[in-house]
Amino acid sequence: MTMTAHNILEKLESVLTPFEAAAYLPLIEKINRLKKEKNAVILVHNYQTPEIYHGIADFTGDSLGLSRQAANLDCERIVFCGVHFMAETAKLLNPSTKVLIPDLDAGCSLSESITVEDVRALKAEHPGVPVVCYVNTTAAIKAESDICCTSGNAARIVKSLGVDRVIFIPDEYLGKNVARETGVKAITHPGRCMVHEQFTVEDIKNYREEFPGIEVVAHPECSPAVVQAADYAGSTAGMVDHIARSGAHHIMLVTECSMSDNVRSLFPQKDFRVPCILCPHMKKITLEKVLKSLEEDVYEIVLPKETADKARLAVERMLALS
Ligand code: 13P
Ligand code: SF4
Repeated sequence: MTMTAHNILEKLESVLTPFEAAAYLPLIEKINRLKKEKNAVILVHNYQTPEIYHGIADFTGDSLGLSRQAANLDCERIVFCGVHFMAETAKLLNPSTKVLIPDLDAGCSLSESITVEDVRALKAEHPGVPVVCYVNTTAAIKAESDICCTSGNAARIVKSLGVDRVIFIPDEYLGKNVARETGVKAITHPGRCMVHEQFTVEDIKNYREEFPGIEVVAHPECSPAVVQAADYAGSTAGMVDHIARSGAHHIMLVTECSMSDNVRSLFPQKDFRVPCILCPHMKKITLEKVLKSLEEDVYEIVLPKETADKARLAVERMLALS
């Protein structure tokens, strides 16, 4: 076994059974060989399963971090292990590189919650009010927006506009959380993350009772009541940074379930408590599909030029400010 394979196995065994870890290894090694031959870089979101996160990633991170990586890559192919809007954002920022997603059905309840007509109607109702779109949107929605944001920079982006009102789409909860943090009024759309909308204040109360001193770390796609009941809210990368700084032993993670497997291996001395809810879209990506993606060059992200050019402006404005 090579040194790299040994290291991968060690990481996998920190979150999977030795049997599961060993079963994944041949496929992981095959993918890692093929990605070199094909001059491909594999970007992996924090919600991917441990065998993808630890086994085949060249870069892991949150939406903002992965967008930045995508913009700077010099390779022939990017394989995006995440959801469709993330792969689209990578394509916007690196248009000359082939961007592949292993399953075209890896969508997102937020990005599917809004249409171009919805955005146009909001703009007509609130003329002159800037449109801030969450990165969890299609390129067509970004093309209708003034500026993009992620959960890692939403408050900073909204404040930077120097206005008292924004149209914030499509995540109603993130919009309300950002409005509370910045004091800027957010006109929202009723989009929700199908994972984060399920967490409740009651869940937090129960964990606090069971584990005194537990630190509650939540994603800002949760409801404002849940975010207020938490000790910290931030992007998936922000959560990792916060846990690294925290002195608490018990940590409650109020976010997608695979994230806890991935951070558990980074902080083996901490005790993670998780009401486990999986994102069915993120879970569409598997090692088998990544292998097929590399072998057959599927599924390529292709965007109409006019849409891509407009959408890129919104994303580049964000990157210039963050
Ligand atoms: P992050 O940008 O915080 O990684 O979040 C992406 C996402 O889809 C959360 O549900
Ligand atoms: Fe979309 Fe929620 Fe899944 Fe993130 S966790 S990709 S916001 S459905």
